[in-house]
Amino acid sequence: MKIAMIGTGYVGLVSGVCFSDFGHEVTCIDSDPDKIAMLNRGEIPIYEPGLEELLAKNVAAGRLSFGGDLATPVAESDAVFVAVGTPARRGDGHADLTYVYSAAKEIAKSLSGYTVVVTKSTVPVGTNRQLKQIIRNANPDAEFDVASNPEFLREGAALDDFMRPDRVIVGVQTEQASQVMQDIYRPLFLRDFPIVTTDLESAEMIKYAANAFLATKITFMNEIAALCEKVGADVKQVSKGMGLDGRIGNKFLHAGPGYGGSCFPKDTSALARIGQEHAVPMQITETVIKVNNETKRRMVDKIEDLCGGTFNGKIIAVLGVTFKPNTDDMREAPSLTIVPAMIGGGAKVRVVDPQGRREGEALLPGVQWFDDAYKACQNADALVILTEWNEFRALDLRRVAKKMAVPRMADLRNIYSAKEAKRAGFQAYVAVGR
Ligand SMILES: NC(=O)c1ccc[n+]([C@@H]2O[C@H](COP(=O)([O-])OP(=O)(O)OC[C@H]3O[C@@H](n4cnc5c(N)ncnc54)[C@H](O)[C@@H]3O)[C@@H](O)[C@H]2O)c1
Repeated sequence: MKIAMIGTGYVGLVSGVCFSDFGHEVTCIDSDPDKIAMLNRGEIPIYEPGLEELLAKNVAAGRLSFGGDLATPVAESDAVFVAVGTPARRGDGHADLTYVYSAAKEIAKSLSGYTVVVTKSTVPVGTNRQLKQIIRNANPDAEFDVASNPEFLREGAALDDFMRPDRVIVGVQTEQASQVMQDIYRPLFLRDFPIVTTDLESAEMIKYAANAFLATKITFMNEIAALCEKVGADVKQVSKGMGLDGRIGNKFLHAGPGYGGSCFPKDTSALARIGQEHAVPMQITETVIKVNNETKRRMVDKIEDLCGGTFNGKIIAVLGVTFKPNTDDMREAPSLTIVPAMIGGGAKVRVVDPQGRREGEALLPGVQWFDDAYKACQNADALVILTEWNEFRALDLRRVAKKMAVPRMADLRNIYSAKEAKRAGFQAYVAVGR
């Protein structure tokens, strides 16, 4: 199959590289010339484990290429995937479809022969039908179908998620489009990964419902954690006891500083807007958004209490600022709420993050960047663990405590325990829900 992938961000680049590894001939297109120049040099504009090697392998095999102009690849392709961003629109929180619509208009002009235009971006229910109309209006003679193929990969584990997915969702209107999608995903189908075929609207809804459900699970646990702190329970034991129940499952039950990232915040907010527009308020999701914001603010209070009631004049070492480990993605990371609040209160903040600096420098003005956790802790008044990168999971706590002016720790990922911290010489240790 010949595939054009429009948008080479976290989703488009991983999808394009993986499709080429399936044996398809893929051209990845992006409107950002710097990204295309990097990719043509064999460099990766994002951090995603394993991607560079897989990209190089498929470029060498002649199955994968990159470009800025979509006309020829679109004309020659059996399927054109749209994987551009759908950020939250400023003001009302709805999904901003500007990039999707402009890509659709460009695609329409170049379609030649039967083509399936596939939306991989997360888009509100009804968008694929609108896309069909936009393409039809722009090119009345085009022979095409639309398909919805929402993506569920997780940054940091994206290749494995794409190659070994829990399921692939394909929303279509015609048998011909369904056949093209089956041919594209044949390598997964042959290995018994479930491919679920639905109508367009159900496919679009599955993506929002799945993300809102996961955000709810995390947020529910964060709320239970707040109560655990008051009643003397340990949320780690509580989530273990809950997660062993097969009906609940043990994933997404870890209490922490609130969810962030490129998907949950904008997708919960878009689902809430879709509900309001159809006069079916998504009350649970609306509450989840509110509780998540409160959770992040609760973390600021927790750290301030740890610092003796004020941030003023304190040196605080922060370990991890990306929204989760193994990515350089800073979008909506809890650090973007917590770090500015500390700086605003008069703290000097030092940050260590294995991949976050490139994005984070512009987003966290006023912080000092360090390469090494121990150096960042020298003479510090508090240590805050915000993202559970592996290198922060096995710190020599004794060495850390010795270096600090006042050994105090806010462990917002529950990596260590009060007992361990005390044994290592920490005067104070706070976590989440314990
Ligand atoms: N990031 C994730 O973990 C993830 C997971 C599942 C689904 N999604 C969804 O996938 C979509 C893409 O997300 P992302 O994180 O990859 O976004 P991203 O911002 O990393 O990448 C989008 C890319 O599209 C390019 N682009 C925009 N308009 C274009 C156009 N007209 N022509 C060519 N290129 C264009 C941009 O330059 C950018 O490189 C979103 O809808 C998102 O919700 C993301």
